[in-house]
Amino acid sequence: MQPVRKAVLPAAGLGTRFLPVTKSIPKEMLPLVDKPAIQYVVEEAVQAGITDVLVITGRGKGAIEDHFDRNPELERVLERAGKTALLQEVKAPDGLADVHFIRQHEALGLGHAVSVAEPHVGDEPFVVMLGDDIMIDDAALLTRMLAVHEETGGSVLALMEVTREEISAYGALTGEVVREGVMRARGVVEKPAPEAAPSNLAVIGRYVFTPGIFGALRETQPGVGGEIQLTDAIGILLEREPVFGVTFTEGGYDGGTKVDYLRANPALGLARDEL
Ligand code: G1P
Repeated sequence: MQPVRKAVLPAAGLGTRFLPVTKSIPKEMLPLVDKPAIQYVVEEAVQAGITDVLVITGRGKGAIEDHFDRNPELERVLERAGKTALLQEVKAPDGLADVHFIRQHEALGLGHAVSVAEPHVGDEPFVVMLGDDIMIDDAALLTRMLAVHEETGGSVLALMEVTREEISAYGALTGEVVREGVMRARGVVEKPAPEAAPSNLAVIGRYVFTPGIFGALRETQPGVGGEIQLTDAIGILLEREPVFGVTFTEGGYDGGTKVDYLRANPALGLARDEL
């Protein structure tokens, strides 16, 4: 079996939930303590053994590319001033992984954003990590998901129990328990109304996919919001190949909501001795 080396990070969204700041700043660059949110996601990927990261960007996302590039001018200033620790922090993002960028020319949905990665990913299993979901767990969840993929050869989704009211913000999964913390997926629905939700198990933004997802995406018609939904492609995939879910309870912050974004800041700050 091929090892999972590549991660795809969709980052082309308009960030409307964080306006007005996202009018001029990519939401992926919003700081959590002193690092942009997307750096935590790349660090998590690297901790789980990923060596190649593809960021799907769009217009106005240039700051993300600058962040994962060198800045020799700034480095020289810090070097001359003897600010060694800061110098290391400034160089760190570029040294994390092999980071690539590709543009999604039109915001046609999350599924479409993932399909843009196909030429880069090729015929290999890979992970998709949504920048809105910040995990403060030393990559424990992603590592567990990769272990289930290695064991089964199937795709693996991250799952969290939410309330009936909250489920309409997520993909909702049905399936059966294989063993504690692992499910076999049987169906998935994007953003169901609470009364129509088939379950309260929400798909959270960490996925391990076989390359079979690209074929499913090619057949996916526009769904909720007129967008090509990744969830609908997963629905096609699970008719053809085994798809699993790994449940978790701790360490997740939905950085797409203001309350969770606020909660993540003190959690990350308190984990740092000097703060
Ligand atoms: C996306 C997916 C949804 C998933 C969620 C996880 O929704 O479409 O299935 O449950 O991420 O955060 P979004 O948050 O982009 O609306």
